[in-house]
Amino acid sequence: MTDVTTGKHHLELSVFPTSPYYARVHVQRVLEGWRRDDLIETAQLVVSELVSNAIKAHVSPPAATESFAVTGSFAVTEAAAHASPDHIWMDLYPAGDTIVLRVWDASRTPPVLRTPDLDDEGGRGLCLVDLLARSWGYYRPASGGKVVWCTLAASPMPSEERAG
Ligand SMILES: Nc1ncnc2c1ncn2[C@@H]1O[C@H](COP(=O)(O)OP(=O)(O)O)[C@@H](O)[C@H]1O
Ligand SMILES: [Mg+2]
Repeated sequence: MTDVTTGKHHLELSVFPTSPYYARVHVQRVLEGWRRDDLIETAQLVVSELVSNAIKAHVSPPAATESFAVTGSFAVTEAAAHASPDHIWMDLYPAGDTIVLRVWDASRTPPVLRTPDLDDEGGRGLCLVDLLARSWGYYRPASGGKVVWCTLAASPMPSEERAG
């Protein structure tokens, strides 16, 4: 979905192993539309890491057979009543001389920048984000979950410099 007033491109993604792929395709299409092909590779790397982390962290609704309460004629799972929808979302929008990439998941747990040893298998995703992004961070919206965001430097294109 695109908001024409803000240029914000919003995408809902399933909590599924293929979602980082769809996120990369989405980022490519949006950046091609903005004629920012120079940013595609970096943005795809970063979105892959953020979406992968969001999928790992996402709090899935528990199975419907767990504890339940009977309300009238409906059996409602107690846990499902508080469950998060089984999706994450991302958006992408330009802001000044950056583009902003945000990824939401239902977990309130913050991301942690690790310093992995050479033989550690994981812990490099946020290192990559830290290296490639101009800035990054997270916040917890009142509506729930959290957003991990980063900004990518979008220096003026040569054609813009000539025009300006
Ligand atoms: N969206 C997130 N929600 C909760 N914790 C996160 C999230 N992203 C990252 N983290 C935490 O930060 C750590 C470092 O993330 P990362 O550098 O991507 O390494 P890895 O994914 O290989 O563990 C993760 O192990 C996890 O504990
Ligand atoms: Mg990771």
